[in-house]
Amino acid sequence: MKTLTSESIKKLLKTEAIGGIIYSFEEVGSTNEVASELARNGAPEGTVIIADSQSKGKGRLQRRWISPPGVNLYMSVIFRPAIAAKDAPLLTLVASIALAETIKGKEPDTLIKWPNDILVKGKKVAGVLTGMQPIGNKVDFVIVGIGVNINMTREMMEREMGEVSEIATSLREALGYDIKREKFASDLIEELEIWYHKFLKEGKPRIIKEWMERWGAINRRVLVRFDGKVIEGIASRIDENGHLLVKKDDGTTEKIIAGDVIPL
Ligand code: BTN
Repeated sequence: MKTLTSESIKKLLKTEAIGGIIYSFEEVGSTNEVASELARNGAPEGTVIIADSQSKGKGRLQRRWISPPGVNLYMSVIFRPAIAAKDAPLLTLVASIALAETIKGKEPDTLIKWPNDILVKGKKVAGVLTGMQPIGNKVDFVIVGIGVNINMTREMMEREMGEVSEIATSLREALGYDIKREKFASDLIEELEIWYHKFLKEGKPRIIKEWMERWGAINRRVLVRFDGKVIEGIASRIDENGHLLVKKDDGTTEKIIAGDVIPL
């Protein structure tokens, strides 16, 4: 089994700002934790951390991110944008757009599922988990963690994920062939650089618009589980903070900050 290394990715990279420094590890607890530690010790913007496997991969809503060796991508990137701390979640949207673009190059049936899942042929192939360290009301650093199921087989997903595997897929399963992980990683870093610079130059409205254009649930009826509640309604848009707005049948709108959305 071939390990994913920083050299193999760097050889393919054409970017300068992101991926100038890449740390690769055979196994870590979580690349997001390694990235936070490096950032606290002054690592510059654009530093990338990848691991071939994670023993404590973290997902959204305190879930685990299944991270077996040799098959997937587990990557975290350190950003230090000069923006207000309250705008840091925008980087999650930036990363989802970059991921969607990278995957769309291989499979057109690629959509974003709020808040930051990537679906291929209707099943989850990738997710983004962002962490932020503020300094006053500004950002000190943001860690954008990205997990992509690349070459996992169906049997492997069933074994590793149990019943969650029913709503999960991998690029290999969707496309029918193995993907070179170093090429996928370098393509993704290049997309991240493009979309991060669009965000810095053109700001929030452009990113929100681009995100909504790739969103699978726009104007669709959805069921949402959040804060111990369950509601139904029409997913109308995301607001300037990336929160989901759902129009309920009684005409009122519910703002969802964190939760699970099921299309009906
Ligand atoms: C989700 O729940 O959809 C977000 C998953 C994010 C997983 C990635 S893998 C690399 C980075 N390190 C982690 O521990 N989590 C993120």
